[in-house]
Amino acid sequence: MIRKCLFPAAGYGTRFLPATKAMPKEVMPIVNKPLIEYGVEEAMAAGMNNIGIITGRGKRAIEDHFDTSYELEHQISGTSKESMLDGIRHIINNCCFSYTRQIEMKGLGHAILTGEALIGREPFGVVLADDLCEGEGDPVLAQMAKLYEKHRCSIVAIEEVPMEETNKYGVIAGNEIEEDVFMITNMVEKPDPKDAPSNLAIIGRYILTPDIFDIIRETPPGKGGEIQITDALMEQAKRNMVLAYKFKGRRFDCGSVEGFVEATNYFYEKYKA
Ligand code: G1P
Repeated sequence: MIRKCLFPAAGYGTRFLPATKAMPKEVMPIVNKPLIEYGVEEAMAAGMNNIGIITGRGKRAIEDHFDTSYELEHQISGTSKESMLDGIRHIINNCCFSYTRQIEMKGLGHAILTGEALIGREPFGVVLADDLCEGEGDPVLAQMAKLYEKHRCSIVAIEEVPMEETNKYGVIAGNEIEEDVFMITNMVEKPDPKDAPSNLAIIGRYILTPDIFDIIRETPPGKGGEIQITDALMEQAKRNMVLAYKFKGRRFDCGSVEGFVEATNYFYEKYKA
C-alpha cells in the first residue's frame, strides 16, 4: 500500500497573473473548491493519507486551507452553512500534512527531490494539482496504485494529445505490454512535434519508487536549464522498468486559462446537479 503523496506547489503560476500575484495558484477554485483539494481527495481515494506539499514563498494559504479556522467555524457553527465544510473537515481529520519549501525553482525533478525528507525510502504518489483529473470508475491515482501493486515500479499517467502540442509535455515511447500499459523505451521533455517519439503525453500523476531520489541527484539540468523528472525517469527506465499508463477518465489542464474555464463549466454542472 502506498501511503504518501507529494504535491509540488512552489511554482509561480505566471499564466494566471495577476490572480496569482498574492494567491497561490493551487488555491484557485474550480467552482467552490481549491484545485489542490481535488488532488488531495484523489490521493486519499488511492489510500495515500500522508500528504507532503512542496511549497515556496507566498504559499501560506495552502497550509491555512488544510487547517482549522476557529473564528469561521465558531461563526457558522449550527447554521446551514456548516455542511459546506464537511469535505475539508473530512480531509483534515483523515490526512496528515507535512510541508517543506523549495528555496529555488530548479524544475519539477528538483521539487520532487526536495520532498525526499517527507517521503523517505518508500514508494509514493505525485500529483500536479493543475492537472485536474476525473477518473472513470476509480480515480486516476487509485487506478495507478492498483497497477503498482502488480508491477512494483515507477508509473506515469499518459494521454494522447494532438501532435502539435507535444512541446507542452513529457512524451514517451514504449511497448504495450497489456491493454493501456506501456513499458517505456524513450521519454523526452517537451519535444518539438518533429522530434517527438509519439503523441503519448505525461500528465501530472506519477507513482515513483524511492530510488528516483538518487537518480535525480545525478540528473543534470535538461530542457529549459531545469532538472527534469522526465530525464530522471528515463534513466530509471534504463536501469529498471518504468511503465506508462493510459488512464481511464479525463483531464483538465487547469494550468491554462482555457482548461481552467473548461473544468469550471464541467464541475459547475456537477455542482448544480
Ligand atoms: C510537467 C512535466 C511534464 C509533464 C507535465 C504534465 O511540465 O515536466 O513532463 O508532461 O508537467 O502536466 P509543466 O506542465 O510543469 O511545465
